[in-house]
Formats: sequence, C-alpha cells, structure tokens
Amino acid sequence: MSIQKVLVSGANGQLGWEIAQAAKLFPNFEFVFVDRNAMDLSNSNELSGIVSLFAPDAIINTAAYTAVDKAETENELAYAINAEAVATLASIAKQKNIPFITYSTDYVFNGNANSPYLTDTKLDPVNFYGKTKADGEQMALAENENTIIIRTSWVFSSHGNNFVKTMMRLMKERDALNIVGDQKGRPTYAKDLAHATIQILIALNEGKQISGIYHYANAGETTWFGFAEKIKDLAGLECDLKAITSDQFPTPAKRPNYSVLDTHKIENDLGIEIPSWEIALKQCIDQLT
Ligand SMILES: NC(=O)c1ccc[n+]([C@@H]2O[C@H](COP(=O)([O-])OP(=O)(O)OC[C@H]3O[C@@H](n4cnc5c(N)ncnc54)[C@H](OP(=O)(O)O)[C@@H]3O)[C@@H](O)[C@H]2O)c1
Repeated sequence: MSIQKVLVSGANGQLGWEIAQAAKLFPNFEFVFVDRNAMDLSNSNELSGIVSLFAPDAIINTAAYTAVDKAETENELAYAINAEAVATLASIAKQKNIPFITYSTDYVFNGNANSPYLTDTKLDPVNFYGKTKADGEQMALAENENTIIIRTSWVFSSHGNNFVKTMMRLMKERDALNIVGDQKGRPTYAKDLAHATIQILIALNEGKQISGIYHYANAGETTWFGFAEKIKDLAGLECDLKAITSDQFPTPAKRPNYSVLDTHKIENDLGIEIPSWEIALKQCIDQLT
C-alpha cells in the first residue's frame, strides 16, 4: 500500500490538533486537515463529494459529537454525526479502496465489569452517546470490513476542552473541590494516540494487514479523584480535594463505574508502546505551564 495523502476530519478537536502537531515529524505524509466548516459530518450527503475533492489515500475521522450529557437530548444530531456519518465515510473508503481510521469510546460498554474490556467484549452502551458510537462501529464495519476503529477513554491534551484543563482552572479559582472517586478508567493523552495513529499508517504502508477494533489508552488506571490529585501535584497547585461518590454528582448521562480498556491487542499486533498516564500527564502539564 502507498499512503501519502491523508485526509483528517475534526481539525480543531483535541485529537485532530495533536495529529496536526505530530504530522510535522512525518513529512513523507501529506496531511490535509478539515474542520466542521470544510466537512460537516451532520451532512452525510455531501461527504462523498468532499472526500473526492481532496482525493486522499487514507481517511482519519477524529470528528465526533462529544457532548456526552447533551447527547441524551440532542439524539438525532449525535446519531447523525457518530453513527450515520461514520458509516458513510466507511462506505466511501471502501468504494475508493483506501484505509479508514475512526475512533470510539469506553462508553460502548456498560461499566459494570471488574476486569479490563477486551476489543470483543459484548457491547452494552452505558448512555446515548455510547449507543451512537457503538452503532457507528457496527454500521461502519458492516459497510466496510477493513474499517479500523480505535476505542479510547478519558482523553486530554494541552489543546481543547478536557478534565486536565478544567481541573487546573478550578484548582486556581477555588480552595476546595469535590471529585468523583468511585469511577475507574485509563486517561489518554491525545498526543500519544496521535502518534499511535501515525504508526498505523506506517504499518499499512509496510504492507501489514490492519482492520477491525483496537483499544488505545495510556498505561495504568486511576479514578477521577486520583487523576485530579496527580494534576494538582504535577501542576504545583493548592486546593483541598475530596473524593465523592457518583451518587453525589448526578449527570444527565450515566457514567461507567469501571471503564478500563485492555490495550494488549494494539501493543502486540502493532508493536505500539504505550507510556503510563502519569508520564503522559506530566508532558501535557509541562506544555500548559
Ligand atoms: N474526549 C474524550 O474524553 C473521548 C473519550 C473517548 C473517546 N473519544 C473519541 O475520540 C475521538 C476524538 O475526540 P476528541 O477528544 O478529539 O474530541 P473533541 O476535542 O470534542 O473534538 C471533536 C471535534 O469534532 C468536531 N465536530 C463536531 N461536530 C461536527 C460536525 N458535525 N462535523 C464536523 N466536525 C464536527 C468538533 O468541531 P468544533 O471544534 O467545531 O466543535 C471538534 O473539533 C472522537 O471520536 C471521540 O468520540 C473521546
């Protein structure tokens, strides 16, 4: 396979932006980044024409409806972007015989497990956003069995909106904060996921057969409270943190108690080394301070 020109949607999101930063280190690829204005995923009918215009050798879809709580009421739009458009892009990639990489979430699982989710663990979305992503996965694979889906979790970056940046802001503004301490997961630095994605492009160019579902999250696991404590420590901030239960912090969309993804498949099949979330967090905070 010879991938040179890569079309990346979601240019202004955390992952889209990190792929743009990482891309500078890989001049052999020509990355073309499109934002919502250039390629609106809520408009499935236009996608084929837009992709044809750029004539890419591969498509990476980082764009998504990521407002988890709002998705509970904005059902139609969330579904159009996360399920229907993903299936359409998969079908376009099949017609053009080019690789298609898209991303999904730990929220496709019910959150009740007590050991890490495998790539083939039964889908049972914890909320409507999770359902849109689960249906997006299945519809994309039905359209195009070569679709590459990377599920990830608890994404942070120095760019965009995320838990790390929100915590740093709140810890500066307030003397004390309550943080949910009974939900477990794996934080993911979008920069590391961006590099893993480019490694997939390189592996495809080397002729490696890659398709189906993979999990990528930084190594280790923690709770939101543990994550906040580490942010406070690494950013050198003063604030009293108190662990509370999920019941004490109700949200419109249910959150999983346990959402640890097992990442062995991507590590073993593709030889991708995953840094610990603490090391990744330090890198991100160093960028922010
Ligand atoms: N963030 C997380 O914690 C998390 C966790 C698990 C999985 N994921 C998945 O990982 C992937 C990357 O997420 P991220 O953290 O980079 O998300 P993000 O920062 O929220 O970025 C999403 C991007 O999608 C764009 N977008 C939204 N609606 C669109 C539309 N109709 N057409 C085109 N673009 C549209 C947004 O555009 P605007 O900038 O114009 O709003 C935004 O730039 C997504 O598939 C997401 O579901 C994320």
